Amino acid sequence: MPEIYAKLSGMGKYVPEKICTNADLEKIVDTSDEWITTRTGIKERRFADENTYTSDIAAKAAVAALAQANIAASEVELIIVATVTADMLTPNTACLVQNLIGANKAVCFDINAACSGFIYALTVANQFIKSGAYKNALVIGAECLSKVTEFKDRDTCVLFGDGAGASVLTATTEETGILATHLGADGASGNVLTIGGIREDDDKSRRPHGNPRTVWMDGSEVFKFAVRVMADELDTIMGMAGKTIDDVDLIVPHQANIRIIDGAVKRLKCDKNKVFTNLHKYGNMSAASIPIALCEAMEEGRLKEGDLFALVGFGGGLTWGSAVIRA
Ligand code: UT7
Repeated sequence: MPEIYAKLSGMGKYVPEKICTNADLEKIVDTSDEWITTRTGIKERRFADENTYTSDIAAKAAVAALAQANIAASEVELIIVATVTADMLTPNTACLVQNLIGANKAVCFDINAACSGFIYALTVANQFIKSGAYKNALVIGAECLSKVTEFKDRDTCVLFGDGAGASVLTATTEETGILATHLGADGASGNVLTIGGIREDDDKSRRPHGNPRTVWMDGSEVFKFAVRVMADELDTIMGMAGKTIDDVDLIVPHQANIRIIDGAVKRLKCDKNKVFTNLHKYGNMSAASIPIALCEAMEEGRLKEGDLFALVGFGGGLTWGSAVIRA
C-alpha cells in the first residue's frame, strides 16, 4: 500500500469588517499608539459585531477554503475547529459550522489548545487522513476574542482580535502536503495565561476588574516562554523532517508580538525575510492567527506549489506545536 499524505488543497479566511485602531483603544484605556506599536507591532485589529460568533466567521472561512479546493461541502468527512471562544459548551463549534455550510456527512469536534490550536487540529486531521479513515477534512482556526477581552485591562486588551482561517486537507499518494508535525504541552505552567469558564473562581485575586470570564495573562512570562519554545520547536521539527531552516521557503509563526518573532529569528540565526507576519493588521487571533497568515502568504504569492514551509505556534495551556508542509 502506498503511503498516504494530507495535501493542503485549499485555504480560506474571513475577518470581520469592523476595524479597531490603536487610536480607538486610546479612547478606552490609558495607552498610546506609540506604546502598542513599539511593544507589539500591532496597529489595528478586527472585532466581530454583537450578534456574530465564532461559528459564523469559521463558516465563512470554510466556504472560501472549499471553493479554492473545488470540493463540495457534502464531500467533507471531518471538521475540526480549533478555538478558545466556542459559541457554546455544546453543540461544539464544528457541529455549528457543519450546519451552516451543509457538510452533513462530516464528523465534527473542537480542539482547545489556544494559540497552538490550529497546529494541534492539523496534526489530528493528518492522522485521520494518513490512516485512510477520511479523504477530505476541513481544519479551521477561529476566534472571537473580543468577546472575552477585558477592555478595562490595558495589559491585555490591546493585543487581541477576531478572525477565522480554514484549510482543506485532501488524501493523496504523492509525497506532498504535511511532512512532519510535532506538539508539546506544559500544564504545570498554565496559570500564566487563563480565560475563565464554568469554574469562575479561577484567578479571582489577580483580576481587579472582577470578570472571571476574560483573558488574564502574565505577559512577560508568556513572552520568555514564547521566544524559547518557538526557536526550540523549529529546531525539533526541522530535525524530524530531515531538513534545515535553509531548506524552508517560508516560516509562518503564530502572530502574537513582533518582538517575540524577532527574538526567535535571532536565536535561530535565520533570514528574517523568510518569516511571514501580518499581526500589524489583526493583532493576536489565537487559533486563527496561523491559518489566516498562511492564507495571506499564499494570496500574496509568498508560497507557490512545491515550496516547503514551516508553521510554529505557542499559547495557553501552555501548548506549542510545529509542522513542515509542502505547498
Ligand atoms: O498568543 C499567546 C498569548 N500572548 C502573548 O504572546 C503575549 C506575550 N507577551 C507580550 O507580548 C508582552 O509581554 C506584552 C506586549 C504583553 C507586554 O510587553 P512587555 O514589554 O513585556 O511590557 P511589560 O508587561 O513589562 O510592561 C511594561 C510597562 C508597564 O509599566 P511599568 O510597570 O514599567 O510602569 C506596564 O504597566 O508598560 C505598561 N503597559 C502599558 N502601557 C501603555 C502595559 N500595557 C500597556 C499599554 N499601554 N497597553
